[in-house]
Amino acid sequence: MSNSNMFSGKVVLITGASSGIGAATAIHFASEGASLALTGRNTQNLEEIARKCEENKGVKTITIVADLNVEDDIKNIVERTINTFGKLDILVNNAGIFKIGTLEETSVQDYDAVFSTNIRSVYILTKLVVPYLEKTKGNIVNVSSLAGTRPLPGLIVYCMAKAALNQFTKCLAVELAAKQIRVNSVNPGTIDTDIFRRAGMNDEENKQYLARGKAIHPLGRVGQPEEVAMSIAFLASSQASFTTGETLAVDGGRNIVCPR
Ligand SMILES: NC(=O)c1ccc[n+]([C@@H]2O[C@H](COP(=O)([O-])OP(=O)(O)OC[C@H]3O[C@@H](n4cnc5c(N)ncnc54)[C@H](OP(=O)(O)O)[C@@H]3O)[C@@H](O)[C@H]2O)c1
Repeated sequence: MSNSNMFSGKVVLITGASSGIGAATAIHFASEGASLALTGRNTQNLEEIARKCEENKGVKTITIVADLNVEDDIKNIVERTINTFGKLDILVNNAGIFKIGTLEETSVQDYDAVFSTNIRSVYILTKLVVPYLEKTKGNIVNVSSLAGTRPLPGLIVYCMAKAALNQFTKCLAVELAAKQIRVNSVNPGTIDTDIFRRAGMNDEENKQYLARGKAIHPLGRVGQPEEVAMSIAFLASSQASFTTGETLAVDGGRNIVCPR
């Protein structure tokens, strides 16, 4: 991790900053000098990540406990961020949940839960921050998935929601281009986080799933949250100043292979 202060003076809002990819992204942006609004539901985890971020000299963070399924909580995220920092440069729509199951195995409640967290909240939050991003000519990075383009067996609602997020990224990139707001996504393969245990896998199943990842990612391993964080930071940085509407694979080459 570098300390070039690439994001010094920038304000970054990250959803799902209390765990996994979002937590690693917060720590990475902090190492580059950003001020951070960190949101999630788990207060203790959020505080711990904020403390790690503030180990970097001069970095200011706020934590906002919010359930993205609650519209007033989303409004509060934006209000607290703007009241504290006065502006917003980068939104990272990272929070998400995973539901395992086929059409026959999942319920309408599962469908609603996944679409509410992974898509509806993104739509609401993004709509609220666009006026602020317009002022800073800021940008948005969405955390999508390989599942947005490749049907992963037994994950129908998750795949559908990530496909919607890919199209959201592209449609919005076109809509906001005139305002000089860039919109991109990262599309990870399997990344070693708690998301699979949270979706119901026990420790053994989780271990087996990650072990199988070695065989199905051409680079011969699963990814680490920090590797996704670096790609998010790249897309959010001035190094990607002419890139918008991109859905960047961060998947060890998994999306380009065809089983044989
Ligand atoms: N891990 C992978 O293999 C992988 C691959 C491709 C894409 N992704 C995507 O990467 C993103 C992050 O996932 P992860 O692997 O880092 O998972 P994770 O460790 O389970 O973290 C998920 C984060 O989302 C937050 N979140 C979930 N539901 C929420 C809600 N209703 N309100 C507010 N926050 C909520 C969680 O907050 P609390 O813990 O505070 O509740 C947590 O911070 C997701 O969009 C996921 O789909 C992951």
